[in-house]
Amino acid sequence: MLKTHNCGDLRPDHAGQTVQLAGWVHRRRDQGGVIFIDLRDRWGLVQIVVDAAQNAEAHEAADALRSEYVVQIEGVVRMRPEGTLNPELPTGEVEVVAGQITQLNAAKTPPFYINKDDKIDEMLRMRYRYLDLRRPRMQRNIVLRHRVVKFIRDYLDARGFIEIETPILFKTTPEGARDFLVPSRLVPGQFYALPQSPQQLKQLLMVAGYERYFQIARCFRDEDLRGDRQPEFTQLDLEMSFVQREDVITLIEDMMTALAEEVSGKTPMFKPFRRLTYTEAMEKYGSDKPDLRYELAAVDITELAGKCGFAVFVNNVAEGKPVKALRGPGLGKMSGTALRKFTGELEDLVKGVGAKGLAWMALPEDEEGEVKGPIGKFFTVEQKIELFDMVEAEPGDLLLFTSDTREIVYAVTDALRQRLAQELNLADPDQLALAWVIDFPMFYWDEEEQRWDPSQHMFTAPLPEDLPLLDTDPGKARGSQYDLIGNGYELAGGSIRIHDRAMQEKIFPLIGQDIEHAFEQFGHMLQAFEYGVPPHGGIASGIDRLAMVLAGEPNIREVIAFPKTQQGTDIMAGAPSKAEAKQLDELYIEVVGLDEDDD
Ligand code: AMO
Ligand code: AMP
Repeated sequence: MLKTHNCGDLRPDHAGQTVQLAGWVHRRRDQGGVIFIDLRDRWGLVQIVVDAAQNAEAHEAADALRSEYVVQIEGVVRMRPEGTLNPELPTGEVEVVAGQITQLNAAKTPPFYINKDDKIDEMLRMRYRYLDLRRPRMQRNIVLRHRVVKFIRDYLDARGFIEIETPILFKTTPEGARDFLVPSRLVPGQFYALPQSPQQLKQLLMVAGYERYFQIARCFRDEDLRGDRQPEFTQLDLEMSFVQREDVITLIEDMMTALAEEVSGKTPMFKPFRRLTYTEAMEKYGSDKPDLRYELAAVDITELAGKCGFAVFVNNVAEGKPVKALRGPGLGKMSGTALRKFTGELEDLVKGVGAKGLAWMALPEDEEGEVKGPIGKFFTVEQKIELFDMVEAEPGDLLLFTSDTREIVYAVTDALRQRLAQELNLADPDQLALAWVIDFPMFYWDEEEQRWDPSQHMFTAPLPEDLPLLDTDPGKARGSQYDLIGNGYELAGGSIRIHDRAMQEKIFPLIGQDIEHAFEQFGHMLQAFEYGVPPHGGIASGIDRLAMVLAGEPNIREVIAFPKTQQGTDIMAGAPSKAEAKQLDELYIEVVGLDEDDD
């Protein structure tokens, strides 16, 4: 080794020892006769002192160093002089007096500061990802991610699970996104699909008798990207035989609690985790993955609003549309101008998700005051009293009202909750609100295709008590799906599976798959289901999202070493890129139909 110690490990115990260090020049300060270098390696920083008066040769070498040069330094650890301790730094009580400095490699001036936590253009960060990854924040995230995976592997191993790898070159595994296809050279004109998840294979492993399987699995989905979505991502994929919903939930709940405490020091807010039904989540919070670090629940005031004098509400209620109220605690206390500006901004926000307007009332702080806002006048005194009682209003609150189709009311509720939480500073990054959402509908109606689509995937079993509904009213049947949500993200999803071929065959026609087509795609599953299938269920958790939430980061690119841009490209290496004509020929592929611009 070119070093005897790590920079970040030096402590007062090392004082007096001669050490050899190697790392990057994080910062260099020239104070005339004395040069200070903060030397950085993966374990942290330590201060190096080079005094011209004591060591002219080392001083000359230090003089030539610049940011991000790679150096080896031999020196003696000593306690820092009184008054120069740095309590911010774990090594802040000591420094190393340089004896010999060897430059191992020079560096061009980096395109951004490695040593400052600045806001840097993300495209620049992506282009120079290897430099971005040097930054302490990224190193923390990448190490945290490693700990997450290591913890999961140890935890599950100790509980009898084994990790089994499944293929990347496979057949379509529908999870609702588009497949990435890979052309086969050996079987001309045919394609593999990259797995959207190992769903079928893990179920087949249950048929194969492995009983407790997991995998840290790469998944690929060609869909529109967002802050919490990448075209390739990593799942903790898990499947168990002879279990019921409660068994999977308990295992994951215990594991996530221990994991969060171990790697992030955060204790989940709810013990046991809160459980919401899908309907409750949508009606109260307008989302199937609400951020439960704060409550801000919508209250249904449809009946009352139908009797008030505001025509929009009265007409909507007559058409069967709901009216809901949301309470912004204390936000009615803003001055007239600020209030107009804020409610105007909220109105723009809700119009952005499809609403026609946003009615509001600002409640006075005392008895004498007046209710401000456009619709106060449409409610009688008695109606106002009833309304305030229903939403548990306090003096000085701001009440927001939304009425439209149920879908739009949900979207408005979700958007307003997030904006109010931001205004009230309620989304504390140190808190971890983990909860379960259960009792999802089995299917939702696809207007365009005129058929039912599985809300999770086609292998999810219906809740036993809802079985008869498959024949009579499929839209009302609930699935055995469970989602783990955390701080506004879906962190995991799973279900108890159909383990009976007859039942599986019943689902296909409902979701518009004729049996023949289903056989083409899933014949292997249906066949396997004829050979003794244990009841089974499982779950998959997005490792990227989990690491993001535990690290308190706002998007998953911050916890992925080499992520793709929102356009799905890698701008460091330049991917995707054109293939050579020879490669295309071998694959019997011709690229046609491109516009000049695309070329
Ligand atoms: P699901 O599709 O819900 O379930 O995915 C499981 C979890 O994977 C994460 N995830 C993603 N993370 C980053 N980028 C993406 N594009 C992305 N898509 C999903 C989420 C999600 O909760 N086979 C089923 C699991 C099962 O039934 O066992 C499945 O894949 O955190
Ligand atoms: P108007 O009577 O059209 O001036 O509307 C009075 C207030 O009600 C305004 O603040 C509108 O933004 C709001 N509003 C209009 N339509 C709706 C609706 N569907 N839901 C909630 N508020 C609405």
